[in-house]
Amino acid sequence: VTSPLGSVPDAIIVGGGVIGLSAAWLAARAGMRVSVVDPAPGRGAAWVAAGMLAPAGEAAYGEEALTRLHLAAAARWPSFAADLEEAAQDQVCYRACGTVAVAIDASDRTALEDVLEFKRSLGLRADPLSASECRRLVPALAPGIRGGAVFPDDHQVDNRRLVTALIEACRRSGVEMVSEEASALRRTPTGGVDGVELRDHRFLPAGAVVLAMGWRTRTIGGVPPEVLPPVRPVKGHILRLRGDPAEPLLERTVRALVHGRSCYLVPRLDGSLVVGATVEERGSDERLQAGAVHALLDDARQAVPGLDELELEECATGLRPGSPDNAPFVGWTSLERLAVATGHYRNGVLLAPVTADGVVALLAGADVAPVLAPFSPDRCL
Ligand code: GLY
Repeated sequence: VTSPLGSVPDAIIVGGGVIGLSAAWLAARAGMRVSVVDPAPGRGAAWVAAGMLAPAGEAAYGEEALTRLHLAAAARWPSFAADLEEAAQDQVCYRACGTVAVAIDASDRTALEDVLEFKRSLGLRADPLSASECRRLVPALAPGIRGGAVFPDDHQVDNRRLVTALIEACRRSGVEMVSEEASALRRTPTGGVDGVELRDHRFLPAGAVVLAMGWRTRTIGGVPPEVLPPVRPVKGHILRLRGDPAEPLLERTVRALVHGRSCYLVPRLDGSLVVGATVEERGSDERLQAGAVHALLDDARQAVPGLDELELEECATGLRPGSPDNAPFVGWTSLERLAVATGHYRNGVLLAPVTADGVVALLAGADVAPVLAPFSPDRCL
């Protein structure tokens, strides 16, 4: 795709999170001229994520089409990671370690058994395990756990290395990174969009604009918010702990149901351990709250008591881009040349490659893959 105006990029992607950066890199790789507008690329929701690639763990009742997309996304990950590592000349630590889910009490076990049946009915691998089988796979689990399951296909990537590599891959592929905030879209007389106005009053023309602004999508000026899909912030507290890489506490991801609450522990090869996450409807409040940190730590150590020995390195909050049906919005809007790629909620890292493929297809004038087609931006308007 080449711009008819020469100096005008084929696309401006507003938002340099994991979605915007992935789309920009793959679009540039496909030969398009692309700019990314973001004052702090890579520092959105994906920076505070855990990097779980979890089609089985995240499969929920009523979300069958989304689970199909998650499965396609998980299958796309190995080649995406390999290509990205080559393009960035850096590691993203894609780790095919699988996940063990555990139940702390009897009612947690009943709840887990119920969802296992549902997950298996969708064709996901989710195999029940006794408590001792869980502890054989993950010796650090608490002796009192009541059973669990293994999700052999739920893997992980180091989310921070991922966004760092994406920025580098964008740079090396000629993506222009614009370190400024986008304030508004500019409308054409025929009702389309032909570029982006920045906070510093510069105007950047573009052949097309893609909004990949996470929960902020509806805050962009210049267009009525109701033409954009409804995305809201969903707060999460998350912790980072540090252990000895030579004696890792965990070698697989652990998800735990702890007296009805969920948490997860994601071990990295460098010895760090990510523990998450709360799910809170508090608008755009990003304060770190003592009670949430306490509850998260307490739940996680009930599943893996050895956590107590690790160094607590970081407590953070992030805002997931939530949508009414927990699924993303990827496609053209009703305004000509304006697309969105947002609303990825708990699965932005998992869905980044398939979303980026979809954005590249749209910019090239093609349709998105059938598995992505149900997630058009107008479905909740
Ligand atoms: N992907 C898990 C979370 O959003 O907490």
